[in-house]
Amino acid sequence: MRNPIIVALDVADAEAALALARTVAPAVGAFKIGKELFTSAGPDIVRRIREMGAAVFLDLKFHDIPNTVARAVAAATRLDVQMLTIHTSGGLEMMRAAEDAAQATARPAGREAPLVLGVTVLTSLDSNTLAEVGWEPNVGRQVERLAALAVRAGLRGLVCSPLEIAALRQTLPAAMQLVTPGIRTGAEKADDQRRTLSPREALEAGASWLVIGRPIYAAADPRAAAERILASLGPA
Ligand code: C5P
Repeated sequence: MRNPIIVALDVADAEAALALARTVAPAVGAFKIGKELFTSAGPDIVRRIREMGAAVFLDLKFHDIPNTVARAVAAATRLDVQMLTIHTSGGLEMMRAAEDAAQATARPAGREAPLVLGVTVLTSLDSNTLAEVGWEPNVGRQVERLAALAVRAGLRGLVCSPLEIAALRQTLPAAMQLVTPGIRTGAEKADDQRRTLSPREALEAGASWLVIGRPIYAAADPRAAAERILASLGPA
């Protein structure tokens, strides 16, 4: 089995990110670069993590008109990231344009297209905030609806909360990859995560990848924390 742990590099600058990445690299499968780090350190941080030989998940959650998103996805593909995120609420055409851009840019470079992951309903939203913006207020129904749209658009993966995995696995094609944050081992506090599963529970529920931030980077010994989590997943 490949290592399903993606460490969120939720740190302020390139030096902190590289130091963390070097420390934990042997125990993890990929690194997630999000809005804070990308905005402060720029595309160079992606290149530097790639130079270490590690896979990169660029989590910028693109949401714009199809042409703009397609061009951003093409740029991310040229940076040689292995996964990236878009908002499914950008609509069918936007998602199709993103997937097409990933494929069309990777092909001439002789690379595998990055996995374009659809974000459905942010976990910070609840039924009231969904109603406020005029969306279906039932979170589960809205997640299902957007997930089905992502499948229609040809996306090969979704980001979902741990507690959505089991329901999504019932309706999605088996090949759909599910990437799940909100992972806690029980050894640390839940922080601001309200709905959590342990790494092993999330995989058993059907997650393909686990995004883990604070339980690794805020641990006294991040490398040991990552190794403990890897060992907790069971035999390889
Ligand atoms: O520190 P922690 O393990 O909570 O980090 C989880 C990572 O996953 C963070 O980068 C966070 O932004 C991201 N994330 C999340 N919940 C979502 C979507 C993304 O925690 N619903």
